[in-house]
Amino acid sequence: MNNTTFLNTGLLLLISTLLVISGVNAEIIDDDTPVPPVGAMGGPDRVLDANELEQWIRGRKVFDRDWTQAQGLGTPDLNADSCRSCHQTPIIGGAGGLDVNVMRFGMDNGGAGPFQDLPGGQVASKLRRPDTPGREDADPQADVFEQRQTPNTLGLGLIDTISDAEVLSHEDPNDNDGDGCRGVARMIDIAGVPEVGKLGWKAQVPTVSDFLRDALGGETGITVPDDGRGFGMLSDADSIADPEISTDDFSDMLFFAVHLAYPPRGGNTDPQVLVGEALFNTVGCAVCHVPVLQGSGGPVPLYSDLLLHDIYPDDFRGTADLGTPAGVGFYKTPPLWGVRVTAPYLHDGRATTLEDAILLHQDEAQQVTAAYQALSEEEQDALLLFLSDL
Ligand code: HEC
Ligand code: HEC
Repeated sequence: MNNTTFLNTGLLLLISTLLVISGVNAEIIDDDTPVPPVGAMGGPDRVLDANELEQWIRGRKVFDRDWTQAQGLGTPDLNADSCRSCHQTPIIGGAGGLDVNVMRFGMDNGGAGPFQDLPGGQVASKLRRPDTPGREDADPQADVFEQRQTPNTLGLGLIDTISDAEVLSHEDPNDNDGDGCRGVARMIDIAGVPEVGKLGWKAQVPTVSDFLRDALGGETGITVPDDGRGFGMLSDADSIADPEISTDDFSDMLFFAVHLAYPPRGGNTDPQVLVGEALFNTVGCAVCHVPVLQGSGGPVPLYSDLLLHDIYPDDFRGTADLGTPAGVGFYKTPPLWGVRVTAPYLHDGRATTLEDAILLHQDEAQQVTAAYQALSEEEQDALLLFLSDL
């Protein structure tokens, strides 16, 4: 696929989508919106006391809030006017469809490489408000772009409880065990101390709080109070006083986010689900999609090692985070909890079905994909049935 050809079409699509986002998807949460049961999709992760429940509900409303320009929306650039604009499938906090993908731009010399950042950096994905004069959204030097699909944020509080040591114990950068998989952690310097990046398609962010701050700036143009960790935008170019989100609103949204239950299993009782689960392990999916990592409060059934892997062929075109192990084609193994409701799949949504996603795994996953293809049709169906119960 020649990415350049799609650049302009993509932008137009995104622009028209955003007009729709602010027009049609108005706020969906109000004081009467029911709280789903503990542990259910979109519900809290545990029984909350009365004060906690109030805070969780307030936080859900901040996540849903349609920010206005008078409240600081935009830098003046923005991707959408609320978090819920993109994270709403099947429930607030969930994933987003292709129509709300965001884009990163760079230069790769027409595909010959190496990948380089644009002079202004690769975060050229922001759109300007339609009323901004001279709306040039992409640097004309850009010749490659990468779309990023909106992942689910359910269960991220549990990922926060997984220690760096637990993630690092699964690394195998030199493939010493000969299974073809070379998982590597992304270390991020936080005020001089390295921390494992556990969130984002390229493992670019360590904690939920960091990602919320980053998204407030990057997606909605809302400035945040300084916490000394380097994420989020502390000031911007609009005339609203910074920080544009109050400390209380931020703590409420964080409380909501870290206490969103992880997506529960579908509960299909067909015995083939168990057959599929066993095959998931024997063909080698579980090498990267590790079913359970240990968290400080107990096991976390996420189906990920939170490590970076290159599962794409050598001629794959995309962006790199320069100076990190997250080169072109490298992505963090995404957790598979909730995949039954988050189609389409992969970092840019290029896979429509779960089987498409499997068949696109190459390079590090080549042996595993071959083992999947060598299964009988019945066994493949069982594996897919198991996945569609996650
Ligand atoms: C325009 C669509 C869009 C909007 C609006 C948006 N997000 Fe996201 N969100 C994304 C995309 C795309 C990613 C993946 C980014 C990446 O890793 O490159 C993401 C990732 C995340 C993640 C990390 C999920 C994970 O498992 O790694 C969190 C947390 C998050 N967003 C929270 C928010 C919050 C809070 C807001 C509101 C301030 C917000 N998002 C607004 C599209 C959006
Ligand atoms: C070498 C490590 C590795 C192995 C082995 C592996 N995966 Fe993956 N998987 C990944 C990575 C990395 C991604 C993300 C790629 C991207 O976003 O473009 C991914 C993405 C996926 C997705 C899409 C998830 C989403 O939310 O978009 C599914 C489904 C999936 N894998 C299932 C499987 C199954 C089933 C197997 C076994 C047949 C398997 N994987 C084997 C690393 C691996």
